[in-house]
Amino acid sequence: MIYIKSAIVFFRKPVNLSYTHSMMTDRMTMNEKIFDPAVLAGMQLKNRILRSATHEGMSDETGSPTENLKKLYVRLAKGGAGAIITGFAGIQSNGKGHLFGMSMIDSDDLIPAYREIVDAVHEYNTPIIMQIAHCGRQTRSKTTGLQTVAPSALRDAFFSEDMPRELSDEEINELIDNFVKSIVRAKKAGFDGVQLHAAHGYLLSEFLSSHSNRRKDRWGGSTENKYRLIGEIFKRATNVIGDYPILVKLNAYDGRKSGMKPDEAVRIAMMLEASGCAAIEVSCGIVEDGLYSIRGEELPVDAAMEYNFKYKNLPSPVKTIVKPILKRVMKQPKPLLKFNLDSALQIKKAVAIPVIVVGGINNIGDIDDIVANKGIDFVSMCRPFIIEPDIANKFNKGIQSASKCILCNYCTILTEAKPLRCYYGKLPNIGKD
Ligand SMILES: Cc1cc2nc3c(=O)[nH]c(=O)nc-3n(C[C@H](O)[C@H](O)[C@H](O)COP(=O)(O)O)c2cc1C
Repeated sequence: MIYIKSAIVFFRKPVNLSYTHSMMTDRMTMNEKIFDPAVLAGMQLKNRILRSATHEGMSDETGSPTENLKKLYVRLAKGGAGAIITGFAGIQSNGKGHLFGMSMIDSDDLIPAYREIVDAVHEYNTPIIMQIAHCGRQTRSKTTGLQTVAPSALRDAFFSEDMPRELSDEEINELIDNFVKSIVRAKKAGFDGVQLHAAHGYLLSEFLSSHSNRRKDRWGGSTENKYRLIGEIFKRATNVIGDYPILVKLNAYDGRKSGMKPDEAVRIAMMLEASGCAAIEVSCGIVEDGLYSIRGEELPVDAAMEYNFKYKNLPSPVKTIVKPILKRVMKQPKPLLKFNLDSALQIKKAVAIPVIVVGGINNIGDIDDIVANKGIDFVSMCRPFIIEPDIANKFNKGIQSASKCILCNYCTILTEAKPLRCYYGKLPNIGKD
């Protein structure tokens, strides 16, 4: 049975919703641009395809990385990823996510374990960037043991069991210091740079979006005020460590009425550049949206009923009723592919620093078009690297032109329960209807 399931995964057709071979430009031209060595914020990359930050669930209860995490990064490095951006690492305990096995970078004691990982990845001449984050109100007090915090005391529609506390001025200052301390730790561990997670509704993007930031003080209101927290991180970090690459993953829109829109994201991108940001990765969406930032054909309701904290404890008859309703109500946003490209192009026009685009990029033809024709500096992928950590090599060697990922998003739902892997065909009784 296991073999049959593995065979299904192996032989199923790659999802190729918009791509045809005719879209591929001449292979030689393509290889020259994408697979030529490139420089990103002083880092030497083998190519322009990055592994986007992906929570791996491979750290222990203290947030210290395990041997399995090292093995995964080595596979990605061997597999030809231009650079690896790690899954998000928490900068302080009330900012830890509710996910299984999340990494932390909140203590100097963790530095040696990360150093081992970085050294292993560097053996393959692959830069590795640590993504650092505070989850803000997108976590659970049940798992952190601490009250959730946010720019404003507004209940998150998804994490609705917790009412977050508005951060005080003093706490914001402490938070900035903890971001800076985490950057210093990442540098000490040998990471080639850090990426601030200012996307997907986590704390930094909560500050940037008027949907979640309703403050009337100097941390809210105007774009300048909402940006102040990130600006301060840059200022204080630069004072402490000087010239060290700090990248940012930024939401260009979040699908909320009063939320982030590309016009404001462009202005924020310009502020980031002025602050010394090394590169901007463009994304979208928050958890309340459903899977806006990690789109699939349909919501993985079946997996959610078994593994998501909101649904897994519902009585079976209720699940039977809720499942079809959720499927119908929670439609996945369109387009499914290249859904941040337009906003990345707008940001690219406004800044001179490198721009990276993520989201629904799953084939070499599109990558070629994005880099060679559209002029975006780098692309990044998440799900394609989960199912095939060596996808960059496969593209480079012409073994494969598209990812085998079918965007079922079981990997996303399972982040709460198990370590990262492609779970398609691996979950008993799921995906059968
Ligand atoms: C299992 C999983 C874990 C993720 N973890 C993170 C994360 O730690 N940090 C982050 O910025 N984005 C995270 N993302 C979002 C991805 O980096 C990316 O923005 C999104 O999946 C769209 O890219 P894709 O279409 O190439 O998958 C995660 C996505 C998945 C599927």
